[in-house]
Amino acid sequence: MREAARVGTEMDMRVLVTGGCGFIGTNVVRRWRSERPDWTLVNLDKLTYAANPENLADLERDPKYIFVRGDVGNEELVSHVLESRKIDAVVHMAAESHVDRSILGPGIFIESNVRGTQVLLDACKRAKVSRFVMVSTDEVYGSLGPTGLFTESTPLAPSSPYSASKAAADLIALAYHHTFEMDVVVTRCSNNYGAFQFPEKFIPLMITNAMRDESLPVYGDGGNVRDWIHVDDHATGILAALEKGKAGETYNFGGSSERRNIDVAKQILAQLKKPETLLKFVQDRAGHDRRYAIDASKAKRDLGWSPAHDFENGLAETVRWYVGHPEWIEKTRSGEYRNYYDKQYGARLA
Ligand code: NAD
Ligand code: DAU
Repeated sequence: MREAARVGTEMDMRVLVTGGCGFIGTNVVRRWRSERPDWTLVNLDKLTYAANPENLADLERDPKYIFVRGDVGNEELVSHVLESRKIDAVVHMAAESHVDRSILGPGIFIESNVRGTQVLLDACKRAKVSRFVMVSTDEVYGSLGPTGLFTESTPLAPSSPYSASKAAADLIALAYHHTFEMDVVVTRCSNNYGAFQFPEKFIPLMITNAMRDESLPVYGDGGNVRDWIHVDDHATGILAALEKGKAGETYNFGGSSERRNIDVAKQILAQLKKPETLLKFVQDRAGHDRRYAIDASKAKRDLGWSPAHDFENGLAETVRWYVGHPEWIEKTRSGEYRNYYDKQYGARLA
């Protein structure tokens, strides 16, 4: 490994973030530029439908922010970026991230999430990168019954093509630690919400549909539970894992905010002063995980991390962000989004 001591101690770290133009990536880059102003952040992003480089347009003239358009599965490009930019650490967030799209078409999930991660790991091994943070997800654990929490030792039991692809990537990253002694840290976080989230995901979909007086498609009986965390709290968690995590370890992050989908949808309608008649129970997601809930005590104890946002205030602030950004919504909901929306919801909402 190249100078392992650089991570967590040096002022001038050079960090490659992948997927920096997506939802979590945007929030990570924006937050870390202000919290770690001496670091150089190189953002490698393929710019899929989910990316929005304009989210970071104000950083264009920032000499410590560099954007590279490209695929994490492009071996030559990735090696070139690691070497030419003298990268110390990699935070791997790039992925196909939407469960419903993985049901419509799993292939790209295997290509980007599994093969892409392996190519990136190989390049990092060759370049002797000091630390690799694999941003995984709590969905690798599968579904919980009415009680209990996911801990880091809960057996992996992914249900969807998306979560199976993330479990594969997560385990491959850990295998590079065990087999090649690479410095790898894995994070597994619950459902994020906040500004800049693409409106295919539940919370921004409910907000943007309600703003337009369109139906809110709630899958099944609306009783599925997610443990919501503000994206800023995930960003501080990944930073703590990068700086303080122990090689070979996995850290769960969650907001201790379990909510039923139907209750979240009703909260959004109430804030927007829209009627509950907009709610529409539709055909359930295939293989729909019933409940996620995270035990984040290891991250709290070993990384000194804790979430700063409470869900009710965070959701209200998120609703205000979408209301204040109609052009952003208009742009993301045009083009490819319309085709996806018709395919996913056409029959369900008919
Ligand atoms: P997103 O879909 O909003 O963004 C993904 C980004 O990755 C996009 O900018 C896209 O262009 C880029 N990308 C996709 N494939 C790529 C490739 N082959 N090469 C380079 N770039 C590529 O996703 P998100 O919600 O911001 O999630 C980011 C990461 O966090 C993912 O790895 C996801 O699995 C994980 N995660 C997400 C959540 C959540 O609630 N959103 C929770 C836990 C973990
Ligand atoms: O738990 C972490 C995961 O959270 C991340 O790894 C994924 O990248 C992220 O997409 C998210 O996965 P979910 O499937 O939990 O999130 P989604 O926003 O798609 O759905 C949240 C819940 O809302 C889920 O129970 C399904 C339901 N839902 C979703 C949509 C899009 C609906 O009822 N209607 C909808 O239209």
